Amino acid sequence: MNPWTGTRNSRRGPLAVAPAAGAWPGLGHIPALLRSPLDFVTSLASAGDLVEVRFGPLAVYAVTHPDVAQQLLVTRGRDFERGRLFEKMKPFFGDGLVTSSGRVHRRQRRMLQPAFHAERIAGYADAMTGAAESLAGVWRPGQRVALDRFLNELSLDIVTRTLFSTDIGVRAAARIQAALPVLSQGVMVRAMLPDWCGSIPVPPNRRFDEAVSRLRHAIDDVVASYREAGADRGDLLSMLLAARDEDGRGLSDRQIRDHVVTFAIAGIETTGAALAWFFHELARNPEVERRLHAELDDTLGDRPPRADDLPALPFLGRCVTENLRLHSVWLLSRRAVRATKLGDHEIPAGTEIIYSPHALHLDARWFPSPRRFDPDRWLPERSKNVPPGAYIPFSGGAHQCIGRNFALTEMTLAIASISRNWRLRPVPGVRVRPVTRADVHPNQLPMTVHPRRPASRIR
Ligand code: HEM
Repeated sequence: MNPWTGTRNSRRGPLAVAPAAGAWPGLGHIPALLRSPLDFVTSLASAGDLVEVRFGPLAVYAVTHPDVAQQLLVTRGRDFERGRLFEKMKPFFGDGLVTSSGRVHRRQRRMLQPAFHAERIAGYADAMTGAAESLAGVWRPGQRVALDRFLNELSLDIVTRTLFSTDIGVRAAARIQAALPVLSQGVMVRAMLPDWCGSIPVPPNRRFDEAVSRLRHAIDDVVASYREAGADRGDLLSMLLAARDEDGRGLSDRQIRDHVVTFAIAGIETTGAALAWFFHELARNPEVERRLHAELDDTLGDRPPRADDLPALPFLGRCVTENLRLHSVWLLSRRAVRATKLGDHEIPAGTEIIYSPHALHLDARWFPSPRRFDPDRWLPERSKNVPPGAYIPFSGGAHQCIGRNFALTEMTLAIASISRNWRLRPVPGVRVRPVTRADVHPNQLPMTVHPRRPASRIR
């Protein structure tokens, strides 16, 4: 019996699912997962396309092949719902997009999608560039910067400037910023442990509960002030307040708060971490850096980037794509809502599934020398044989990241704004390691900043 689902595990289906190596008696793969989560998820493909992983007595299937990932997310996507990892996040995300499935999810997605349309995002471009230019504008030549923290602040600044354009929104940003690190760390830990662990009155649980409550209060205050003013300010929150479903029904304050919390948790640290990895990779790959700087100089000259510059920056686009291949979300889940198939395997209703974009992206079958930062692997002639489910930094199908274009625009403009003026150098002797939370971020990233043009011309 699978205690996660209350159903029997089909360990002996028509085609038995291969077990992952390295299970401990009683504990299963928990020790391997705790010791080195990224190595563990990347090792699974050697056991098969669908692999049984055990968390103590709990059995789940891990998808390790792009074709099976494509079935899970797209072609058979309707046979699966969010799964355990996301359901356990409900107490903090509420009923936002991340935690809902099926009909409820489709209704919400239809209501929220207009806020992320291309023309809307182009309208946020000036705020994105403005945030990057003004935050990096205070750097001094030779200064040492904690770049990971800086980029998290930048990402927060961009999301809050585009979510709520008012002063009260700016004040809420500081409260959101204080709560986020505690939340993103706690969310994954709580999702993996049994529910009762979260109610033990120990300091990490208390800190987590307080952070949830602070975040909610901060957002409730902004929503209340927007409702009172009643004006469309052209920002994301105004869109949420104006959103209507087919029957003309709007969102309640509670639903709006849940969506804003979801955007904050799903959108800020993910983008901050991806940007941090980008500058880490750039500093380690001088030829890539040289080509990127040349492209920026040719296209932009002396001025900040705009949304309509993006098509003229194809090398930067490939660098962003390659960075998200090497540095992406490491673990996501689904659950079968009915009996179905994945590859050659029968999947009973209730089966819990996990998949890892991180692991799929490091598979040498589709990405030769997979750990090499090689933006040109995305040239059309070289990328044409990459199968659809092999590159999924934003997942795929109905639950594909709604913030995908927002994040790509934000990252491209932030990188262009910073790199047109500054060359970032690593601090010698500092070892940068990945840390797995809900995302994968660098443990630290101190860098020194050096002007690429006379300081007087950096604006
Ligand atoms: C580099 C940045 C980002 C990455 C790598 C990323 C990645 C992802 C992934 C992998 C998923 C799918 C989870 C699943 O399969 O179940 C997702 C969903 C989601 N993301 Fe992002 N995300 C990023 C930025 C953003 C931003 C900026 C926002 C909002 C402003 C956002 C909001 C969301 C939401 C609301 C969902 C749930 C979508 C749904 O289920 O309909 N994300 N993201």
